[in-house]
Amino acid sequence: MAEIEFESEEILREIEEAPSPAALEEIRIRALGRRGALTLAMRELRALDAEARPSAGAALNAAREAITAALGAAEARLSRTVLEERLKRERADTTLPVSFAPEGRIHPISQAFDEVVAIFGEMGFRVVEGPHIEEDFYNFTALNIPPEHPARQEHDTFYFEPRADGTRRLLRTHTSPMQVRTMLKEKPPLRIIVPGRTFRCDHDATHSPMFHQVEGLVVDRETHMGHLKGCLIDFCRAYFGLEDLAVRFRPSYFPFTEPSAEVDIGCSRKGGELKIGKGGDWLEILGCGMVHPRVLENCGIDPGLYQGFAFGMGIERVAMLKYGIPDLRAFYDGDWRWLKHHGFLPLDIPSLVRGSLAGP
Ligand code: PHE
Repeated sequence: MAEIEFESEEILREIEEAPSPAALEEIRIRALGRRGALTLAMRELRALDAEARPSAGAALNAAREAITAALGAAEARLSRTVLEERLKRERADTTLPVSFAPEGRIHPISQAFDEVVAIFGEMGFRVVEGPHIEEDFYNFTALNIPPEHPARQEHDTFYFEPRADGTRRLLRTHTSPMQVRTMLKEKPPLRIIVPGRTFRCDHDATHSPMFHQVEGLVVDRETHMGHLKGCLIDFCRAYFGLEDLAVRFRPSYFPFTEPSAEVDIGCSRKGGELKIGKGGDWLEILGCGMVHPRVLENCGIDPGLYQGFAFGMGIERVAMLKYGIPDLRAFYDGDWRWLKHHGFLPLDIPSLVRGSLAGP
């Protein structure tokens, strides 16, 4: 044999015009595959005359290089087109209205936090948050609860191992340490609320070792019991969505407030059914009082110039009362069926303006 028939022009043209990666692959197999045109032509080299072989071999090698290069270029071109087409196809129209029905639910604790924050936010309170692991000083001492004070026993504290100097860190037993941290860091006037997690070594049907509180603190030059009462009465009525909700202040004791009070809201228990509003019965929902002068002093604020009031409430309790949730422990079970029943839709964001705070 003196010559080998192989034409690469046609193949090169096809490569250039290949409409898709699949078509390109088909051409590659047809040219370079085990039984491809070029492979077969290469095989014929062996049968060629000795003097014709080098030039024919060189020609076929040149053809192979040209085809390989063309394939590479076409592949790059096609993958770009494929990507562009995919981007075009998958473009999301963000102007479309939301039409999905979300599966997830907002936990009643988060919902109650949001509602409480919305109400105090309207009154000009600012949210601050603080550490769960706290120093004894902030949780107790600065709040006028010195080391031997009986209130320390009542708090069922989770302590950490003592350090070399004998001091112990602890899991905060209330959100009140944030009163101290805020007063030490910022100058009055202050108006803050502190939603957060708290811990006490106590576990039964009505107590969980981890629970949630909202703390409130107001410090200004002329802050008095009237401000405290007005603020908390307004809060209770807004939160429960009842303009004529009965609210009373009952004298109480906290080491860090003087005078101290507990706030009860009116309810009726006629026929075994709890109904919030009026009706002669009372339900305790939060603790409060005028900030003790010694606490102000501990935080570098002159009690001769400034006064303040503070309050603290359990979020589980106010959530249970508002939404009619009977069992505290279910809050932490993570049971989807419970959450579906008691939870809230993610798009149902509470706000005073929309009036959705009246709730179910
Ligand atoms: N920290 C108190 C508690 O956990 C509640 C409280 C806060 C009372 C602020 C008065 C003022 O019981």
